[in-house]
Amino acid sequence: MAPQPRLEGKVAIVTGGASGFGKGIATKFVEEGAQVLIADLADEAGRGVAKELGCASTVADVTKREDWERLLKEVVDKFGKLDIVVNNAGATYNNKATEDVTEKDFDLVMTVNVKSVYLSTSVIIPYFVGENIAGCFIQIASTAGVRPRPRLTWYNASKAAVINATKGMAVEYASHSIRFNSVSPVIGSTGMTHLFIGKPDTPENRKAFESLVPLGRGSTPADVANACCYLASNEAEFITGTNLEVCGGRCV
Ligand SMILES: NC(=O)c1ccc[n+]([C@@H]2O[C@H](COP(=O)([O-])OP(=O)(O)OC[C@H]3O[C@@H](n4cnc5c(N)ncnc54)[C@H](O)[C@@H]3O)[C@@H](O)[C@H]2O)c1
Repeated sequence: MAPQPRLEGKVAIVTGGASGFGKGIATKFVEEGAQVLIADLADEAGRGVAKELGCASTVADVTKREDWERLLKEVVDKFGKLDIVVNNAGATYNNKATEDVTEKDFDLVMTVNVKSVYLSTSVIIPYFVGENIAGCFIQIASTAGVRPRPRLTWYNASKAAVINATKGMAVEYASHSIRFNSVSPVIGSTGMTHLFIGKPDTPENRKAFESLVPLGRGSTPADVANACCYLASNEAEFITGTNLEVCGGRCV
């Protein structure tokens, strides 16, 4: 007998699903039977992924409250409910000395990485509570949030804020059976990797970065998606407030 899809009957919003880890997460969720709405600033790429996967997509800016309100309405109108929010969309500035980080850089990481989680929870928790849904939030944080490296100070701090807020909300809303977890990948090859390297983005420099990972490679969208699938599934019904490091031993 074929195994039952692990996310059958569940409805998910995946932010930043047009590329990188988000595309991997949307792919896995669709494979496992979820109905998925990709929410991304990138219209054409989002529509391309949705067409490839047979899911839905919409243009949204995760830093805007009105976009979160529209996303909730859109997903409920389309699929009848919402169970899972994957806050994956993120941003960084180019690796640089901390004193060279501009206010624009600082605002970018704090707005896209942290305010987005504030807004999504501010808009969607009342829906989960009001509809009595045992919903779940998964934040894509980073190893940077637990093992900060030099020259990415405020990116690191934005991810630490996400991990910390996720733990606090997990305890605060446990009585409603709403779960909050984060997933922290080590460096992988995506649209933003070149900004982390801090040296010319050559295959040798990527390899040198990846050689710092005990298991000897960077993370893939599939690694991240598998972790998210577990946390979103009923198998993880007792797991809340955790930060799952998908890092090949880098955080040890
Ligand atoms: N790439 C890595 O090495 C790495 C490591 C650890 C954590 N992360 C985290 O993984 C997450 C996914 O990033 P990725 O590496 O796949 O990069 P990526 O650049 O490939 O994907 C990011 C996606 O987010 C979208 N996005 C950016 N700002 C947005 C906004 N305001 N509203 C809606 N969508 C927006 C982009 O259009 C893009 O499709 C991020 O939170 C990132 O910080 C990445």
